[in-house]
Amino acid sequence: MQKIKDFIVNSRVWRSFFRHGWPDNPLDRSLVMTTNIFFHLHPVKVSRKSLRWSYSFGLGIIAAIVFTVLTVTGILLMFYYAPTVERAYTYINTLQSQVPFGQLLRNMHRWGAHLMVIVVVFHMARVFYTGAYKPPREFNWVVGVILLLMTLGASFTGYLLPWDQLAYWAITVGTSVAGYAPGLGPTAKATLLGGPEVGQEALTRFYALHIMVIPAAIALITALHIWRVRKDGGLAAQDAEEEGETNG
Ligand code: HEM
Repeated sequence: MQKIKDFIVNSRVWRSFFRHGWPDNPLDRSLVMTTNIFFHLHPVKVSRKSLRWSYSFGLGIIAAIVFTVLTVTGILLMFYYAPTVERAYTYINTLQSQVPFGQLLRNMHRWGAHLMVIVVVFHMARVFYTGAYKPPREFNWVVGVILLLMTLGASFTGYLLPWDQLAYWAITVGTSVAGYAPGLGPTAKATLLGGPEVGQEALTRFYALHIMVIPAAIALITALHIWRVRKDGGLAAQDAEEEGETNG
């Protein structure tokens, strides 16, 4: 067996792909982690507890995957949509009734949006329940709160785009409620609507926020969030294990 391993790792083909030997010793195992584009996101060493499925339920990763699905389906939806009050509703109807897989595409995007809100809220609850918001992770908790607000913002702005009765009245009510917020309320309402009521200006603004501003912000802030998990020393479970080790 050893001879076969030696033959493989010394071959030209292996050495042209990998910068490490067979991962059966600590040095080569850590080289696997640091020289692979996907693995290098992870620390070289992690505690067993933080890898346990029941510790994090992978909810943060699931949120990131759902966001990717939403981005891909959202881009495809843009091929069949125009943000104008005359045509938006017709475009959505045509997409559902005449475009192959149009109904599936729309449903994936809509259900994906609901799922993302649920997953992000559950992720936040898990972080709270495991006490992972405490120092040194308090900054990442605040970054997470921004991500939650962005996720809700993406759902809210997307809701208007079909331009049906449900969308129109939901955004009329939502922006009116926002208008009553103390201090910045009226300014926020005017900025969102771009006029006295829900109309073409509001549709243009919601579209720009929904397809560009909010997704770009979520992508950038998620990158910061995941990088920060790494810099804060991995998941909080890691600390508990290390403290346990030093305490005896
Ligand atoms: C778009 C939304 C979000 C994404 C994509 C995301 C992604 C992630 C990922 C991939 C992790 C690594 C561990 C895991 O999978 O659970 C993580 C950890 C963490 N997240 Fe999020 N997150 C989001 C929202 C939030 C929210 C709303 C909060 C809290 C307000 C939050 C606070 C944290 C904290 C404190 C950690 C470190 C947890 C620990 O050390 O155990 N995140 N996040």
